[in-house]
Amino acid sequence: MRKQIAAANWKMNLTYQEAENLLESIIKQAGNLSDNREAVFAVPAPYFDMAEDKIANKAHMYVASQNVYSKTSGAYTGEISVGMLQSMGVDHAIVGHSERREYFHESNQLLADKVKTCLDNNITPIFCCGEALEVREANTQNDFVGTQLEESLYTLSAEEVQKVVIAYEPIWAIGTGKTASSDQAQEMHAFIRSQISAKFGAEVANNISILYGGSVKAANAKEIFGKPDVDGGLVGGSSLIADEFVAIIKALK
Ligand code: PGA
Repeated sequence: MRKQIAAANWKMNLTYQEAENLLESIIKQAGNLSDNREAVFAVPAPYFDMAEDKIANKAHMYVASQNVYSKTSGAYTGEISVGMLQSMGVDHAIVGHSERREYFHESNQLLADKVKTCLDNNITPIFCCGEALEVREANTQNDFVGTQLEESLYTLSAEEVQKVVIAYEPIWAIGTGKTASSDQAQEMHAFIRSQISAKFGAEVANNISILYGGSVKAANAKEIFGKPDVDGGLVGGSSLIADEFVAIIKALK
C-alpha cells in the first residue's frame, strides 16, 4: 500500500525559537502515526539539527530540506548538497517547488538533475509540479503537467521513479486560500498516475504517493485526502499552526 503523507513546508518563516515550539507542539499532539502514514517537516535548513533532535524517537516522522542542489560539492555558494543532508540525517528534499521555479528560474532539466542526485544518494525527492492560472483557464493543464513529468522524471528507471513522491500543486491555489476542488485534485492526480503507468507500468504507478498542495487546511483536508488518487498533502500556511497541521495529519487515509 502506498504511503499517505502530510508534508509541512514552512518556507522562509519562523525564528529558531518559534520553530522549536511549533514542532514540539505538533509532535506532542499528533501522537503515534500508524504504519502507512508519514509526517514530513520541510524546515528551514538552519533548523535541521533541532528538528532531527525533536523527531528522533518518533516513528514515521521525517525532516526534509526545502531545496537541494544537483551537484554533489564544489564552488556553489549558498547551495545545499545531498551529502550535507545525509550527514545530518535529513532524508527528504522538496524539489522544484513552484516558488523555486518562479523566483530562482529552476528549469525542468535542472530539476531532472536534482531528482537524480537525490535518488543516487538515498534522499527521497518530493517532486513538485502544477500549472499557473492561465494554463488552467486555457484548459491545457494536463499537457503542461505532463511535460513537467516527462522532462524531469522520464529519464529515471522504474525502480528509481518508484522512490519519488510527487506533489501536485496548482500555482493558483498556493497561498491564495483558493483550493482546487477535491474533484479537480482527483482528476489531475488520476491523470498523473495514468502517465506514470503508461511510462513505467501500473505497479509502479500504484506505489507512488501523489500529494496535493495548495491551501490545504484542517477544514478541507479530509475531503481532499479522501479522493482515491490523493495520498496526502504538501502544506504551506496551515503547517505553521500546530492545531491545523495536527488535524491535517489526522485527516490522512
Ligand atoms: P499553501 O502552500 O498551503 O500555503 O497554499 C502550499 C505550498 O506552497 O507547498
